[in-house]
Amino acid sequence: MIVGIIGSGAMGAGIAQVAATAGHNVVVYDNNAAALEKAKKNLAATLQKLQEKGKITSADDIMQRFSFAGEVSAFADCGLVIEAIVEKIEVKKAVFGEVEKVVSADCILASNTSSLSITSIAAACEKPDRVIGLHFFNPAPLMALVEIIPAIQTDVALIGRMKELMLKWGKTPVIAKDTPGFIVNRVARPFYGEAIRIMEEGIADIATIDHIMTSVAGFKMGPFTLMDYIGHDVNYVVTETVFQSFFYDPRYKPSFSQKRLLEAGWLGRKSGRGFYNYAEGTPSPDATSDMDIAGYVVDRILAMLINEAVDALYLGVASAADLEIAMTKGVNYPKGLLAWCDEWGAANCLAVLDGLYEQYHEDRYRASPLLRKHAIENKKFV
Ligand SMILES: NC(=O)c1ccc[n+]([C@@H]2O[C@H](COP(=O)([O-])OP(=O)(O)OC[C@H]3O[C@@H](n4cnc5c(N)ncnc54)[C@H](O)[C@@H]3O)[C@@H](O)[C@H]2O)c1
Repeated sequence: MIVGIIGSGAMGAGIAQVAATAGHNVVVYDNNAAALEKAKKNLAATLQKLQEKGKITSADDIMQRFSFAGEVSAFADCGLVIEAIVEKIEVKKAVFGEVEKVVSADCILASNTSSLSITSIAAACEKPDRVIGLHFFNPAPLMALVEIIPAIQTDVALIGRMKELMLKWGKTPVIAKDTPGFIVNRVARPFYGEAIRIMEEGIADIATIDHIMTSVAGFKMGPFTLMDYIGHDVNYVVTETVFQSFFYDPRYKPSFSQKRLLEAGWLGRKSGRGFYNYAEGTPSPDATSDMDIAGYVVDRILAMLINEAVDALYLGVASAADLEIAMTKGVNYPKGLLAWCDEWGAANCLAVLDGLYEQYHEDRYRASPLLRKHAIENKKFV
C-alpha cells in the first residue's frame, strides 16, 4: 500500500519516516516548496544517522521509497493518506475535499489533528465513513503511542484495520472516542492546570512543585519544566481549545499566568524564557528544603489526574487498559492513573477531591461519579 502524507512539518515528516521504515512507498505533499525541501533534507540526514547507529540497514533503501510532491494529484494511487497540516478546521476540510477528488473510493483518509473533531472533518468529505483520526505524538518515530479516533460516521471495520497497521508499524495503538483532547490531551490537563493553581495560590513556588512532582511522585519532569519544554504556544493553546470544546467546563479552565507568558512571547525553552529563565548565567531557582508541603502537592495534583482518567473511563472515552497505555506511553507517566488509584485507594483519592470541593465550592473539584462508586464499594479499576 502506498501511503500519502499531507504536510511535511514536524509531524508529517515524522509519520512519513515511520511509514517508509515499515516498508511503504510514501508520497509527501506540502503546499510550501521550501518546507518540502527542508523535510527531504532532514529525512535523509536522520536516516543516515540511524544507519550509522546501526538502527536501520540502509538509509538509501528507505529514502528511495519517498516521493515529494507539490500537488495533491500525486496521491492518486495511495491506499491511506494521513493529514498533518496546520491546526485549522477550515483548511483541513478544504484539503480533505481536494484529496478526495484524486484518490480511489477505498482510500482511507486520516487526520493527525490534536484537538479538532474528526467528525467535523469527516463531514466535509463525500465518503465520511473512510475518515478516521490517527493521532501520533511528537517526535513520531520515537513515541510509541498512536490514538485511533473513529468519527461517528467512520466505518467500524476501519478501527481494526488501523490498529493492525499501527502494530505493523511498531506502534502502540489505543482507541479513543471523538471527544476534545482524545485521551492524553484531556487526561493530562490537571498536571499543568492544578500545578499552576497551587503556584498562583502561593502554596508553593514552581521550583518546589517541580521538585516534589519528580522526586516524590516520580514523574520524569515537573509540570513547569514540562510546560516550558512543550512551549506555551502549544501547551496553553491545547488547554484553551480543550476548555472551549468542553463548553467551558471549569475543570479545564486555562490560567492567566500561562496566558501572560504566551502574550509576552516567553514560550519556554525555545525562546529562552518561560516559567524559568534559560539565559546563560541565570541561576535556576532553588526548591525549598521544607518538604512539609510535598504530600499536599502530590495528593492534590494526583487526585485531579486520577479523577480525569476515571471520568474518561466513566464517559466511555477509552477502555481502562487503553487509558493506562496512553498515559504511560504517550506522556511517560510513572504508572497508569487507574492502577495508581487502586494503590492509593479510591476512598483516599475521593477524600482529597471532596476536601477541595468543600474548601473552594468550585465545580472544578467535582469527583467523577465512578470514583465515588468505587470508593463506596471499595472496588479496584484494574
Ligand atoms: N507538533 C506536535 O507536537 C503535534 C503532535 C500531535 C499532533 N499534531 C498535529 O499535527 C498537525 C501538524 O502539526 P505540526 O507540528 O507538524 O505542524 P508544522 O507547522 O510543523 O507543519 C505543518 C506543515 O503543513 C504544511 N501546510 C499547511 N497548510 C497546508 C495546506 N493547506 N496544504 C498542504 N500543506 C500545508 C505547512 O507548509 C507545514 O510544512 C496539526 O494538526 C497538529 O495539531 C502536532
